[in-house]
Amino acid sequence: MNQVTLEKINATNQKYLNQFKEKGFPEKMEKQLENMDWSYLDLIGKKPSEKGEFSPIEVMELSEIEDKRSQLKENGMKAIKEGKVAAILLAGGQGTRLGFNKAKGMFNIGETKELYIFEQLISNLMDVTKEVKALIPLYIMTSEKNNDDTQEFFKAHNYFGYDKEYVKFFVQDMAPAVDYDGNILIESEDSLAMSPNGNGGWFSSLVKAGLDEDLKKRGVEWLNVFGVDNVLQRIADPVFIGATLESGCQSASKVVRKANPEEKVGALCLENGKPSILEYIDLTKEMAEARNEKGTLLYGFGVTLNYLFKVDKLREIVSDKLEAHVVNKKVPYLKENGELVKPTEPNAYKFELLITDMIYMMDNCLGFEVVRDKEFAPVKNAKGVDSVDTARALLKKNGVEI
Ligand code: UTP
Repeated sequence: MNQVTLEKINATNQKYLNQFKEKGFPEKMEKQLENMDWSYLDLIGKKPSEKGEFSPIEVMELSEIEDKRSQLKENGMKAIKEGKVAAILLAGGQGTRLGFNKAKGMFNIGETKELYIFEQLISNLMDVTKEVKALIPLYIMTSEKNNDDTQEFFKAHNYFGYDKEYVKFFVQDMAPAVDYDGNILIESEDSLAMSPNGNGGWFSSLVKAGLDEDLKKRGVEWLNVFGVDNVLQRIADPVFIGATLESGCQSASKVVRKANPEEKVGALCLENGKPSILEYIDLTKEMAEARNEKGTLLYGFGVTLNYLFKVDKLREIVSDKLEAHVVNKKVPYLKENGELVKPTEPNAYKFELLITDMIYMMDNCLGFEVVRDKEFAPVKNAKGVDSVDTARALLKKNGVEI
């Protein structure tokens, strides 16, 4: 164990790690500790940064998009043909709400046939590559927990018909889970309880993996970043790309009209005049219900985790640190006597960087409305809202054979 790490362990007085100081640290744990970002621990008990002043943002609504659809589409297709657009699939999450113990993309959403979430997403992307007659590089972010499984799955399914030369994987960073006193938890005899550090670190992880060189080599200027959950989303949508180019913005977000003012979805807005995402927990009832003269909710456009970012801007901000969110979770751990504890109530903090916070780092962001029933079918839960059932129904409604 290197001296710096030992000093960190001593300085933060680590209850579960102290036992190893005498008997020696297992190899895996030693590596985890030496690569650890200890600054996460400083966030415990610290108040999150104050929010700024929120105001509504103008969104490009459906009627405006319809009026200029063909021109926007043509411009977007041109950018794709020129190789300026790549897609980034964020697939490092653990999908705990779904309760599926593999990567979420490996979930079979089919009813009468096999249809994996990854397969459906590739099929959505291929709708565009076939029409444009150009391939779009696809970078897939995984985590240490699901990387091997995910890569094997793609191989075993022959990349679902996509050209494998255009698919690259990279692994995101991990963060520790700690008890409420800041003690790093141990998951097994040789490992700390580590989990993926949220979806906000994707660009720095991509750079760390050396893939920025690939972007440069290919001349990619725009990245369409999307989550694994939404099986109906359009990926590298030429109309969306065309609208973003026309707007002159350095980022853009596909948004849907909220199903109701209280819907639990982040709303695109301005914060201190900069683009931002207002989380539903920070939305007062008054703000949630406020409407403009047309009757549209002022904070009524929810983000769908489908963004465009200009690569130049991402390079400019890559070393600016996002502030991690401290979240309460149930984390199984080994007590000092080796006993495994499986908590039934939250017992630990995890640390997550969020892609939504990246929007606030942009100078501007185009909100681009899409038809909810055609492009938004997130698979978050096994049952109920945003579930396997609702996504299946929406796939069928849109003519997808499942
Ligand atoms: P969610 O916020 O739904 O998190 O991720 P999750 O871990 O997948 O699911 P729950 O909350 O445990 O049920 C939104 C998107 O961000 C990705 C997910 O894979 C999904 O595409 N993500 C999330 C990452 O890539 N890495 C992370 O660390 C977290």
